[in-house]
Amino acid sequence: MRKKIVAGNWKMNKTFEEADELLFDITKRLENLPSGVQLIVCPPSVYLELATDIVEEDDVELKIGAQNVSEHDAGAYTGEVSALMLSGMNMDYCIVGHSERRKYFAETHEMLAGKVDRLLEYGIEPIFCCGEVLEEREAKEHFAVVKAQISDSLFHLSYQEISNVIIAYEPVWAIGTGKTASSAQAQEMHAFIRNLLKEKYDEELAGEISILYGGSCNPGNAAELFANTDVDGGLIGGAALKADDFIKIAQSF
Ligand code: 13P
Repeated sequence: MRKKIVAGNWKMNKTFEEADELLFDITKRLENLPSGVQLIVCPPSVYLELATDIVEEDDVELKIGAQNVSEHDAGAYTGEVSALMLSGMNMDYCIVGHSERRKYFAETHEMLAGKVDRLLEYGIEPIFCCGEVLEEREAKEHFAVVKAQISDSLFHLSYQEISNVIIAYEPVWAIGTGKTASSAQAQEMHAFIRNLLKEKYDEELAGEISILYGGSCNPGNAAELFANTDVDGGLIGGAALKADDFIKIAQSF
């Protein structure tokens, strides 16, 4: 059975003290989680060690992920963080190809394929983001856009490799806008993505990969979104910055 996952993408938010407090507040509430739900927190890279220290000291069932990784192994890439560095910090997951990185940092399908490869080499599970902008949906190009994102950056992977990838469908028009995709829109795209996986690999693999929804997901709409057959959880932005909201979302399965 594929995993149910709720992952929090903190983006570039929180001071050190606030990050410490939020991690503490989340770990305090973990016993209220339904069983079988994997909770992941992805803080800014400068707080990753703080996060892994808290998880190890308290011995809690919380996984930590990074928000980005370099597609290069090592060398003269000022400001970048490598997969080897993340693995040295016991990172379990890393977000790849978030729409903000595609937009503001010009990340291409080819660069993202490299990032996915580096992570898998070091045993870190990529949370691979895909999703269309509003104009693409209005032009009815959303399926073609998501298909290209997934096939260009993931379909070079072997059966074994792709089984360690999580996919997050995040329609760009729903991110940070308060305008969530309808439950039907989410299910339709998730089923489309699962079918792509089935056509490229096989039905068993397609059935094993978790596909998360992201974009204005909150405690008020999570239950309806997660009730869909092909929605296996969420990648949460704004609502992951408050422990109560984040845990409520994880209780929505
Ligand atoms: P919001 O939940 O703030 O819309 O952000 C979603 C997101 O981008 C998660 O990666």
